[in-house]
Amino acid sequence: MLENLLKEFKNHFGENDKEIREYFAPSRINIIGEHIDYNGGKVFPCAIEIGTYALARKNDDNLLRLKSLNIEKSGELSLENIENNPENDWMNFPLGVAKFVQEEGYNIGGLDILIYGNIPNGSGLSSSASLEILIGEVFNDFYNDGKISRKELALIGKSTENKFIGVNSGIMDQFIIALGKKEHAMLLDTNNLEYEYYPFDLKDNKLVILNTNKRRELKDSKYNERRAESDKALEILREYKPSIKALCDIDESELDLLDKIEDPIIRKRATHAVKENHRVAKAAKALKDGDIELLGELLVKSNDSLRDLYEVTGPHLDSITKHANEFKDCLGARMTGAGFAGCGIAIIKEDSFDEFVEYVGKRYTEDTGLVAEFIQSGIDDGVRRL
Ligand code: GLA
Repeated sequence: MLENLLKEFKNHFGENDKEIREYFAPSRINIIGEHIDYNGGKVFPCAIEIGTYALARKNDDNLLRLKSLNIEKSGELSLENIENNPENDWMNFPLGVAKFVQEEGYNIGGLDILIYGNIPNGSGLSSSASLEILIGEVFNDFYNDGKISRKELALIGKSTENKFIGVNSGIMDQFIIALGKKEHAMLLDTNNLEYEYYPFDLKDNKLVILNTNKRRELKDSKYNERRAESDKALEILREYKPSIKALCDIDESELDLLDKIEDPIIRKRATHAVKENHRVAKAAKALKDGDIELLGELLVKSNDSLRDLYEVTGPHLDSITKHANEFKDCLGARMTGAGFAGCGIAIIKEDSFDEFVEYVGKRYTEDTGLVAEFIQSGIDDGVRRL
């Protein structure tokens, strides 16, 4: 595949004697801990083997020349006075990254970059964070001798998303894409960015990604609204317990505190955040102990909460996770990522994949008229030069 990309690169940008380098950034799933990375919670994501490739070469024109094999739009963007322009479409992501690399005191400079991603678009597997971290690493390698740490790359990606694109996302996606580890999940404390890797050993079970093939536009979705509702809940709870800095600072023994929130919607949102955070700790322990049954049960509880309390699932995810959870050899299934559509994950018995696909696929199509995709992917390392 890289050979083809190289051909495409030379066709589009022409040949010269400068070095062309190759990079890959994974996408991600989150095992559990959803919609709490902006509430100071713990999350449990993994980087996966599908992701975004870049071929890149320096240019002397201080231009970001971009071409994607996935999206028609390509162009030449100046690296002077960088600003978001809706006409740039997807190219605002690389441009935003350049801006924040520079704002963090690092160097930027001209690059010709060809992009190819095999992440289903709009699937909630974080194609945008994958692109951000990928471009950050290209600037890091070409213009900064690798001095930008993986953690800084993640924060640059998040700034791009929050301040340049306008999605008020948390740090989870960028962090795992920058720092993922093969065959490991990462328990990330979003309060202080401390993290720990857990061997991702499901014993005689396997992970399946359930793509509803219903696109989700994060920016147009209710993501920012949920975030504002969480902030509102925190504001109310701080009147009663000023020491809390985030919703997830609330301990399991203090759940009564949530009764102080009068608005039932805001109370539901806060209840999800607090309980989901506790589920993450239990899930990480279950994985460590090899108790995959318990891990599966926690996935189901998480999904119920995201559907009923946080209300970020929608009919497509509800259908696919419902049928997955009905299947005899499924230990647990849930939505993953921002939700509203996109992907779910399921843990199933290793040798029941074909039966699972048939059972869930058929019923999902009956419910929605769409054809689901069932992806088996290994757990991968974070961003890297190839
Ligand atoms: C999106 C955001 C993340 C996180 C998830 C929900 O993927 O980018 O920061 O909030 O949604 O858990």
